[in-house]
Amino acid sequence: NNSLLILAIESSCDDTAAAVMQGDKVLSNVVASQSIHGEYGGVVPELASRAHQQNIVPVIEMAIRKANIDKNQLNAIAFTQGPGLMGSLLVGSSFAKSLALALKIPLIAVNHMHAHILAHFIDEEGFEKPEFPFLALTISGGHTQIVKVNDFFDMEIIGETTDDAVGEAFDKSAKILGLPYPGGPLVDKYAQLGNPKAFAFTKPRVPGLDFSFSGLKTAILYFIQKQVKENPNFIEENLNDICASIQHTIIEILMDKLKLAVKETGIKQIAIGGGVSANSGIRKTLKEGEKKYGWKTFIPKFEYTTDNAAMIGIVGYQKYLSQNFEDNTVVSKARIEF
Ligand code: KG4
Ligand code: ZN
Repeated sequence: NNSLLILAIESSCDDTAAAVMQGDKVLSNVVASQSIHGEYGGVVPELASRAHQQNIVPVIEMAIRKANIDKNQLNAIAFTQGPGLMGSLLVGSSFAKSLALALKIPLIAVNHMHAHILAHFIDEEGFEKPEFPFLALTISGGHTQIVKVNDFFDMEIIGETTDDAVGEAFDKSAKILGLPYPGGPLVDKYAQLGNPKAFAFTKPRVPGLDFSFSGLKTAILYFIQKQVKENPNFIEENLNDICASIQHTIIEILMDKLKLAVKETGIKQIAIGGGVSANSGIRKTLKEGEKKYGWKTFIPKFEYTTDNAAMIGIVGYQKYLSQNFEDNTVVSKARIEF
């Protein structure tokens, strides 16, 4: 089974990605990011699907070439079924279907959110795999979830956002500050130079384990508008402190809910995933949680946290082991049941 060769394709949002897995190891992992969306301040679905169309063949060819295999050696093809942008998903699924048909090999449909979580099971030197059950905090531009993971395909969402995702909170705050999309990494960069307690933003009151970020965005917008009225240079003069304070508030919101989730489930193993888990403040705070609360935290290798196809491949591998295949009538789903 460890010699199984699986080609994985991810095209749910604005990254066209392909990977070749050998068992649970990554032979190649190629991502073409679409820079076109920067000037629009967010992902434009129509442009995303066009870019996927242009990128998909070269990206897959590169993944196969880098893996140093011949496509005729492939045992299966895994693709992202959803959730995501329909026009983007269709490019990946159509290609996956055609190639599986041509090569006469099985087709495997993967849930993108499962993939962000199961990315922790990629065999990678220096990275430990969590044991079941564990809690997964999935934080990206599209999702914010706390998931109780009992087994590979036995997962339960115990908390999620009721409005914006945490990545959107970062990106929309950045936009208010005049930073280009995606602003999350820039907020992170400036935050490292600023005082997290410089400005205080009220945290939302949301019951249970659910999140809300849209109020925070509004609070930041009003605060900035008021300050800029008094001092037109307010943003430039305080950028580091503003970013540090925004990031601090977002981290507190996440940590409050994580602490509650640990208390309610008794599970102290926490694995994070999704693009926002690249955030240096979140990583640092989670590591501190190990000492402070006796948690064990799992942070995957950077290239497996943002959208990538290796994470689709590891789910494909697990599904292959249980012969969980699709026929050619399988359809993409913008929304998908967990
Ligand atoms: O998982 P991902 O690549 O795509 C989605 O599935 O959404 O996540 C992208 C999100 C964007 O909102 C981006 O701003 C955010 O992750 N992000 C960050 C950082 N790096 C990426 N947010 C905060 N700090 C970072 N260092
Ligand atoms: Zn994602």
